[in-house]
Amino acid sequence: MVNASQRSPSNGRLSSKIYRLLTVLVNKSHGETKNRLSCPLIHFENVGLRYGMGPEILRDLTFDIPKKSFQFLTGPSGAGKTSLLRLLFMSLQPTRGLIRMFGRDISEIPRPELPLLRRRVGIVFQDFRLLDHLTTYENVALPLRVRGKDESSYKTDVLELLKWVGLGERINVLPPVLSGGEKQRAAIARALMDRPEVLLADEPTGNVDPPMAKRLLNLFLELNRLGTAVVIATHDLALMEQVEARRMILSGGHLDIYD
Ligand SMILES: Nc1ncnc2c1ncn2[C@@H]1O[C@H](COP(=O)(O)OP(=O)(O)OP(=O)(O)O)[C@@H](O)[C@H]1O
Ligand SMILES: [Mg+2]
Repeated sequence: MVNASQRSPSNGRLSSKIYRLLTVLVNKSHGETKNRLSCPLIHFENVGLRYGMGPEILRDLTFDIPKKSFQFLTGPSGAGKTSLLRLLFMSLQPTRGLIRMFGRDISEIPRPELPLLRRRVGIVFQDFRLLDHLTTYENVALPLRVRGKDESSYKTDVLELLKWVGLGERINVLPPVLSGGEKQRAAIARALMDRPEVLLADEPTGNVDPPMAKRLLNLFLELNRLGTAVVIATHDLALMEQVEARRMILSGGHLDIYD
């Protein structure tokens, strides 16, 4: 078993090219936050969530996501893992309690500012959310294109990352032609291209075989080692057994944390 805080960069499982790429991505994104006060990236205090008039599905959640931390979020189907990730991504507002993202109370952030803050959080959705009219390459490059970056500044990186997740032969096809596992890998590559400080992944290994799951886990671990905080929502016990990491367990609306 690997300890999430004691991994060596030279474990040999990542190619030097992908290692360089990840280093560049992480350094670019984290330089700007170096001088901020040392506080957790994310802080939840007595957070509750209900949908409409339904029952409260998340209750009194109080926890931090520290900088550079690595954690699994687990719990039975319907426990609220995806809902908690949506709170962390600021695409849902809690019905009560305080959420501080990067030191700021999100209830006080003007709506137009939220997309800017959201750029600092990468997310791999359970249902992928690829755009069907764009090719795999275009989907992965989209976050950078939307920001007005010149294609020449990212094309090699996108192709390299796609090759590494095993999609080198699928760069020019549209998502409807991809298998579930291929879509998942494209969604992961897209989340990484946005250079997140926190990466949220919702069942990222749900559609891939065990060797690919291990490869993806290795990519998440390496990103984390380079300074990105990682939250992986999963049911996959085999995946969790491979890493000695913090576990956040949701059940009956409550969260228990095992460090
Ligand atoms: N948009 C919504 N409107 C109303 N209820 C919802 C909505 N999304 C989720 N729920 C309910 O909230 C609860 C938690 O759902 P959620 O999808 O967060 O669970 P989960 O732990 O991610 O489950 P799974 O492991 O199956 O992905 C469920 O009871 C679900 O029916
Ligand atoms: Mg879910």
